[in-house]
Amino acid sequence: MRKHLVIGASGQLGIELTLGLQERYGIESVTICDLRKSDDELANRSEFVELDSTDSKALRDILKKGEYSTVYQLVAMLSAKGEINPVSAWDLNMKSLINVLECAKDGLVEKVFWPSSIAVFGPEAPKDGTPQDTFCDPTTIYGVSKVSGELWCNYYFEKYGVDVRSLRYPGLIGHRSLPGGGTTDYAVDVFYKALEGVEFDCYLNPDEALPMMHMDDAIRATLDLMAAPADSIKLRTSYNLSGCSFTPKELTEEIVRVIPGFKISYNPDHRQNIAASWPNSIDDTTAREEWGWKSELGVKELVEAMLNALRN
Ligand code: SER
Repeated sequence: MRKHLVIGASGQLGIELTLGLQERYGIESVTICDLRKSDDELANRSEFVELDSTDSKALRDILKKGEYSTVYQLVAMLSAKGEINPVSAWDLNMKSLINVLECAKDGLVEKVFWPSSIAVFGPEAPKDGTPQDTFCDPTTIYGVSKVSGELWCNYYFEKYGVDVRSLRYPGLIGHRSLPGGGTTDYAVDVFYKALEGVEFDCYLNPDEALPMMHMDDAIRATLDLMAAPADSIKLRTSYNLSGCSFTPKELTEEIVRVIPGFKISYNPDHRQNIAASWPNSIDDTTAREEWGWKSELGVKELVEAMLNALRN
């Protein structure tokens, strides 16, 4: 059996992707790597290997055994935290990617997944229905690292034939773990406050629309992209991916339908500037046409899914 290696498996996306891989391919087919194990019991049913993703030798030693067909490299410092530590964010985000690409170039693994983000876009890109091909002039170091990473991916595909695939994720909303250091994190935190019956203090403006996606959609997109025939993947930078789009005010209105009396206040901080530089919504026609992507959860379904899951 050729297995799946998830690097950054203890993070918000890593835990959910591990569960998605377990469900589709079996618990034994997944190995999870990170600096530390998460406390998610379901994810931890797969084998855990401690790994610093910036340590190229340690990664090579794992892949040299030839057990793995696919690597998911999810390690990154997100946008808000990256603005506080720009050099560390660049070092981590680039080194962790290039280490995997180098191993793939040397034939140690067949396929690589690496997440990009809506953060590749900046002030010059059209805000509504941001197209696949447009200005990528990010103003965060996280966005700079994602645009650069996309170009590295394409370079390894063109020059060495590395089968690397990528998605530009919107803000990801899931109940299994909390995101950390991102600008879209409010849209996860808000659900915890709503269920605790506590007022939520939002760090964005009420009308700041951002592209978002429920984890179920994000995981399905990732697994479908990786399972698609190589010749249908024409883009080796990264695909735009759209779920739904909402403002803090619109999200609150949906939550209030289920939890009447829930209250939100607004105290925008530095994250508001980051959000203002990103798209309001995304055009993902290319992903739909090339490998059959289609989102299933709108904002109403997302709110119901989050509240039901957290209640349970
Ligand atoms: N969710 C990320 C962030 O907010 C964007 O990809 O930084």
